[in-house]
Amino acid sequence: MTLTTSTDLLDRAESSTPGGVHSNVRLAGPRTFIARAAGARLWDVDGKDYVDHLLGQGPNFLGHAPAPVLDAVDRASRDGIIFGGQHRLELEAAETLLSTIGWADMVRFTVTGTEAVQAAIRLARAHTGRSRILRFEGQYHGWLDNVLLAPTNGRWGPASAGQLRGDLDHTIVIPWNDTSAVDAAFKLYGDDIAAIITEPAMINAGAIPPQPGYLEHLRRTTTDHDALLIFDEVITGFRLALGGGAEAFQITPDLATYGKAMAGGVPVAAFAGRGDIMERIVTSGVNHSGTLNGNAIGSAAVIATLAQLRDNPPYERIHDHGTTLMRQLPRIAADHGYTLNVHGFPAAFHLSFGAAAVSDWRSLQQLDLAQYDRFSHHLVDHGIWVTGRGIWYTSAAHGPQELADALERFETAIATWTAATS
Ligand SMILES: Cc1ncc(COP(=O)(O)O)c(C=O)c1O
Repeated sequence: MTLTTSTDLLDRAESSTPGGVHSNVRLAGPRTFIARAAGARLWDVDGKDYVDHLLGQGPNFLGHAPAPVLDAVDRASRDGIIFGGQHRLELEAAETLLSTIGWADMVRFTVTGTEAVQAAIRLARAHTGRSRILRFEGQYHGWLDNVLLAPTNGRWGPASAGQLRGDLDHTIVIPWNDTSAVDAAFKLYGDDIAAIITEPAMINAGAIPPQPGYLEHLRRTTTDHDALLIFDEVITGFRLALGGGAEAFQITPDLATYGKAMAGGVPVAAFAGRGDIMERIVTSGVNHSGTLNGNAIGSAAVIATLAQLRDNPPYERIHDHGTTLMRQLPRIAADHGYTLNVHGFPAAFHLSFGAAAVSDWRSLQQLDLAQYDRFSHHLVDHGIWVTGRGIWYTSAAHGPQELADALERFETAIATWTAATS
């Protein structure tokens, strides 16, 4: 192995930081050190460039270093960042977010999607006076004890050492896209289900769209049982449509969480919802706190990002770019004797070896995910920045040159994959 600056830095990082990375999600990804990024490209510390289809796990929906967001953040930060008091930018960010999503009455900002989910779950329990949360196999709602799940011998339970089995006592896990499983859960536990929490399209667990009528069923069932419907829009928000999954699928939740695409890569997230539920933070003793919430940098980034998405909507371009990739990648693979499965959305699709009709986490497992995981490292070696989970994101900054480079690099990678595996 040639010693690169990246391997040198990783060597150093492993002494100061567990695994040399600051999120376990990155342990399985490329260990490359990035020097800089612009638009839809990254450059590593050794000078190699990558077409970015990871987008930092989603936030860089406008591309890296979007000038209007950087300018707004720069201007805002010169007047101070955090005050322990209110300021005009957080008010304007809240109003902008609400007018952009359209359906919610009130919003609170957080720093991460994980926190936003926690607040939504707490609010749902306080509002309904119930304890159970109904959720779906494979979905990720953050890394905290009461939401982190993994399957062991067919049962969903704690995913991390240090988690207590009891942390998940009030969680019911069922397959996605299965209306009868929802009905069965409500039959058994209906009186104690505070909320269903779901991504409106299951992007994190394989870019799986809802089947026709499924979200309508969730909406109807929760309403009939006086439970709440929480959309976790941390990935889908502002990405599947300006108004997120709620707009794309024309279903109005009671609460929703947002993050990633809403701030051009700046760390900020939010939860929003019906006024009578959100007001409980003040009227009914529901605690939601956070030193950094509503800081000027995040607020300025939200305003600038949502203005970009509203005034210069990238959705059609992203649709065309992503659709071309979804068509071309399997075709190129087929030319080299490989069957690739692709499904999902042009802005976020899932790629893997094999073929399956994917409608939930279980059917996703029929694909050769392990081979794709290995192949993803080969793609990185060939200048396409992806991880092993199979999700390819498309940003507003992906243009014709990125498309040509991605297709050419993909072809070289798949053509040499035979050699790599034989
Ligand atoms: C659907 C969903 N919800 C919540 C989260 C947690 O967000 P964060 O990583 O900002 O804490 C994620 C992160 O990937 C996510 O995909």
